[in-house]
Amino acid sequence: HQTEAPDHFDAIVAADQKVEPRDWMPEAYRKTLIRQIAQHAHSEIIGMQPEGNWISRAPTLKRKAILLAKVQDEAGHGLYLYAAAETLGVDREELVEMLVDGRQKYSSIFNYPTLTWADIGAIGWLVDGAAIVNQVPLCRCSYGPYARAMIRICKEESFHQRQGYEILHTLSHGTPEQKAMAQDAVDRWWYPSLAMFGPPDGDSTHSERSMAWKIKRFSNDELRQRFVDMCVQQAGVLGLRLPDPDLRWNEERRAHDYTQPDYDELMRVIKGEGPCNRQRMAHRRRAHEDGAWVREAARAYAEKQHA
Ligand code: 3HC
Repeated sequence: HQTEAPDHFDAIVAADQKVEPRDWMPEAYRKTLIRQIAQHAHSEIIGMQPEGNWISRAPTLKRKAILLAKVQDEAGHGLYLYAAAETLGVDREELVEMLVDGRQKYSSIFNYPTLTWADIGAIGWLVDGAAIVNQVPLCRCSYGPYARAMIRICKEESFHQRQGYEILHTLSHGTPEQKAMAQDAVDRWWYPSLAMFGPPDGDSTHSERSMAWKIKRFSNDELRQRFVDMCVQQAGVLGLRLPDPDLRWNEERRAHDYTQPDYDELMRVIKGEGPCNRQRMAHRRRAHEDGAWVREAARAYAEKQHA
């Protein structure tokens, strides 16, 4: 039914139904989904590094067990997303090569260092919190496999956000040094978390088409605003200050006015000039090389089975 295929595709999207792997789809739709899903998967895998650094340094066995579970979840999120990308006709080996040689990106946020244990709390509360604000709408994305992967991932993200919030709550109600450590982490992670939502709508190259195809359901700035409004009230309960003296409720807008993150810094970090880009990529390359023997063994085994 190649003839009426484009109308069929438009009708599915218009009716808020799901485009499935075997449905006809515009080549540009396929390409932008491969781009976004692959980079989302890369972000999950690279995101294991900053937190992984603290598994052996967690302050208690309970915190170690929780962090271990979270980092393992991130690996699983990466695998779901690579599997979703593969339904579009790419191979994950190819996608990992594109990450490792810089032809594909991962989220800017993971290029910042985790300097103290409180950073693990700030990452859970802010970074996973931002991820939830971004990923809940993606559960209604027009491409079936991506939307379904998001439903499972969002359930696990809420545990990630909760445990981070609880770490910060414990620290901010602990000794003065612990409260100062929690405040320092929030000060360092606040603006990079705002930048995670992407460039301002006016500078976003993909938003217009991505929203027309119902991949992106809300714009970068709409989700950023939603995140700010959510964090203000939670920071109050934590007893921690958000590092923005101009943050205030705007009755007219029914939303908080806030200071924008430094988008020049975001572009620099995306280009590879963030604090940790080099070590994140070196670590990823080394892990890929160290895993080559597993892939060769699996291939040899598959060929033997096949023969
Ligand atoms: N980091 C790196 N690159 C970014 C970025 C960021 N924070 N924000 C935007 N970009 C890139 C885009 O990828 C695009 O470059 P490309 O054409 O080479 O892909 C360019 O900047 C222009 O940005 P656009 O707004 O036009 O791009 P999108 O429409 O794709 O919007 C996005 C960007 C909102 C990140 C969107 O891609 C998206 O929603 N992706 C899925 C969510 C995701 O990737 N989250 C990663 C966060 S980490 C995570 O979820 C793990 C959790 O467990 C913490």
